[in-house]
Amino acid sequence: MRMNELRFGVVGWGYWGPKIARNLDALAQGAVTMVADLDEYRLAPLRINHPWMKATTRAEEVFRSDVDGVVIATPVRTHYRLAKEALLSGKHVLVEKPLTANIAEAEELVTLAQEQGRILMVGHTYEYNPAVNELRKLVQNGELGKIYCIEAERVNLGLFRSDINVIWDLAPHDISILLYILGKKPEQVKVQAHTHLQAHIHDIAHIDLGFADGISAHIHVSWLHPCKIRRVTVIGDARMVVYDDTNPAEMIKIYNKGADVHADPVVSYRNGEITIPYIEWIEPLNLECEDFAGAIRTGSQPRAHGGVGLEVVRILAKAQEALAMQEKQTIAIPPTI
Ligand SMILES: NC(=O)c1ccc[n+]([C@@H]2O[C@H](COP(=O)([O-])OP(=O)(O)OC[C@H]3O[C@@H](n4cnc5c(N)ncnc54)[C@H](O)[C@@H]3O)[C@@H](O)[C@H]2O)c1
Repeated sequence: MRMNELRFGVVGWGYWGPKIARNLDALAQGAVTMVADLDEYRLAPLRINHPWMKATTRAEEVFRSDVDGVVIATPVRTHYRLAKEALLSGKHVLVEKPLTANIAEAEELVTLAQEQGRILMVGHTYEYNPAVNELRKLVQNGELGKIYCIEAERVNLGLFRSDINVIWDLAPHDISILLYILGKKPEQVKVQAHTHLQAHIHDIAHIDLGFADGISAHIHVSWLHPCKIRRVTVIGDARMVVYDDTNPAEMIKIYNKGADVHADPVVSYRNGEITIPYIEWIEPLNLECEDFAGAIRTGSQPRAHGGVGLEVVRILAKAQEALAMQEKQTIAIPPTI
């Protein structure tokens, strides 16, 4: 350990935990010193590849250790209990998305962090993505004109989860992007979702959000799709933008396209240039970890603070309610002969 180095503990050593650990460990003044996972099998490679990190099957050992900050990268149902225990032990906490599985738990964590004087942060990785920040700049500085609507797609084959549906698994990313780039909260939600591979766990969902000033947003999330698509399209009256997270060389494309209806049926179309801004790429998880460490050192509020996590959980919970209503409101189409 170097002088002034922050010590981190990571709870959950599955798919995501090691990725966060790699970025925390790469910080100029940070090191992961402890890792916990219930599953000894997951810890076995860690003991070989990172023998300097203490590995344990008991999360409490991490909370009682001398680490400054803890990352919770476990299944969603466990976030609240583990984050609460970590905060009560005086640790700064970064919880993976979504912050918790319901509103009451998220509210309690936000209050507890304030009472304890500790940082509570949520893993809204896309808020740290340089392309999302470029998109936010375009929306916020008026370059796109009046925003009409936003379409977000996040589809692929899997990863199927058995504890939460696709809305709670994938939509936190798109909801956090929308809140971040628009700088406002939605006022209405409508949802259509379907179950295919697992009973009661929706694997395809379409979420409609209504914002003030008539802005609408549509989110399509799916675990049952042949292609990996991670795209956000913003339609403004001056410009339209496509952010494609799977195309590193051309993540943002700005289209000078539009249409005006002067007098029905007279429509004029604008088909202008397509601009691809240069985006200086830094791994978003690296920036997220920097923000966590910076907040611990200075007491400043991280970008993806607990309050933002709570807001996303509120919208997810309302989307879940809307889904239950939608399922009662289908109208049968009578068969034809
Ligand atoms: N920000 C992102 O882009 C992103 C990407 C993927 C996953 N995630 C989030 O990361 C979290 C973990 O997802 P994952 O894909 O790594 O899941 P995973 O199932 O691969 O790993 C979870 C690990 O947590 C361990 N675990 C469960 N309960 C535990 C407990 N009480 N104490 C210690 N360990 C425990 C499990 O044994 C498992 O190894 C989820 O909240 C998920 O939403 C975020």
